Amino acid sequence: MLASQRELFEMPRRVCYLNAASYSPLPLRTQEAGRAAVGRKATPWTLKPSFAGEQYERARVAAARLINADPFDVALIPSVGYGVATAAKIVTIARGARVIVLENDHSSPVLEWRLRAAAQGFTVETVNRPDDGDWTSAVLAIIERPGAPPVGLASISSVHWSDGGVIDIEAVRAALKRQGAAFLVDATQSAGVLPLDVQRLDPDFVIFPTYKWLLGPYGRAFLYVSKRHQGGVPLEQTSYGRRDVRAENAIYFADLRYVPDARRFDMGERDHFISMEMASIGMEMMVEWGQVAVVQRLSMLTERIAQELRGLSLSVPDRAFRAPHILSLGFRGGLPSGMIDGLASDGVYVAARLGRMRIAPHVYNDEVDADRFVAALARRLKAG
Ligand SMILES: Cc1ncc(COP(=O)(O)O)c(C=O)c1O
Repeated sequence: MLASQRELFEMPRRVCYLNAASYSPLPLRTQEAGRAAVGRKATPWTLKPSFAGEQYERARVAAARLINADPFDVALIPSVGYGVATAAKIVTIARGARVIVLENDHSSPVLEWRLRAAAQGFTVETVNRPDDGDWTSAVLAIIERPGAPPVGLASISSVHWSDGGVIDIEAVRAALKRQGAAFLVDATQSAGVLPLDVQRLDPDFVIFPTYKWLLGPYGRAFLYVSKRHQGGVPLEQTSYGRRDVRAENAIYFADLRYVPDARRFDMGERDHFISMEMASIGMEMMVEWGQVAVVQRLSMLTERIAQELRGLSLSVPDRAFRAPHILSLGFRGGLPSGMIDGLASDGVYVAARLGRMRIAPHVYNDEVDADRFVAALARRLKAG
């Protein structure tokens, strides 16, 4: 199993940080690269001509490796919402069809469809959180609801950001395919940690940022676009999204046909070389450790916490339905007020999500952190 990687981070022992699902710390190497990159921007005359292209392609390749994609099927974008807006500009949802979303999913994979529904004549149907935590069965039941209009698209997270419920995207894909429906996967809470192979799954779109599980900065995200949608019109019109563009006077000399792959969807002003390199480093580290080894370590930690919590009157979602790297705790009577701040004052960092407590360890956490969290929580619950 992968050992704790704590020494690669600036994380003092008094800090027990269990909140990667909100935002992760940056590895030391990423911080150093970021500082050097600021210096580089201060002296742009030192950049060699090939620098820009190398930066884009390094990030594109690193992101593609996480989901087994062809790098040219991946676009450089600034946020998940940008990716969803791009997808919504590309696909046409048939009038009368349904777009499936999850109850209390993050706003980014949901709001674009709600905004467009009335004007485009489709409906948005929400899958409610099932009492038993089995999101996959609930999603499948809504897709296959007898007598319901056809599904045009499912736009859902592969791991629910608030309760850590995991969705069997292969089963959902199969059900969508039976109706000829499209699939947009918000992989924010799973890319790099859970297996996601676009060659095998054949989704329409997959989107993920780097600032959580991929140990990167804000403002860097990636959009996988299936080849069947690569003829679509990008959100922004850029010179480099067009064919045969030369850097100089591109607007005047450009052949106005688009480049033939997902690079046409690259964001405007994509020369974010400071954060682009920082993003690449985190993704490359994740690939180096390997998804299987990372998930082994994180499930060992969440399982240890779940076992140690047994004596306390808390509910933990069924192991079969929860992601291995996120543990969401339910409290009888709701999350005690002041609990999250109280734990933070003990140096223990977790998040409140929809009345539950979300625990999200990463490779820098170890058994000492797991035990310390449980002890701090038990102490506070006892003190009542
Ligand atoms: C499931 C999910 N999607 C998207 C995001 C972030 O979206 P955006 O990059 O549009 O801010 C988050 C952040 O918490 C998330 O949990």
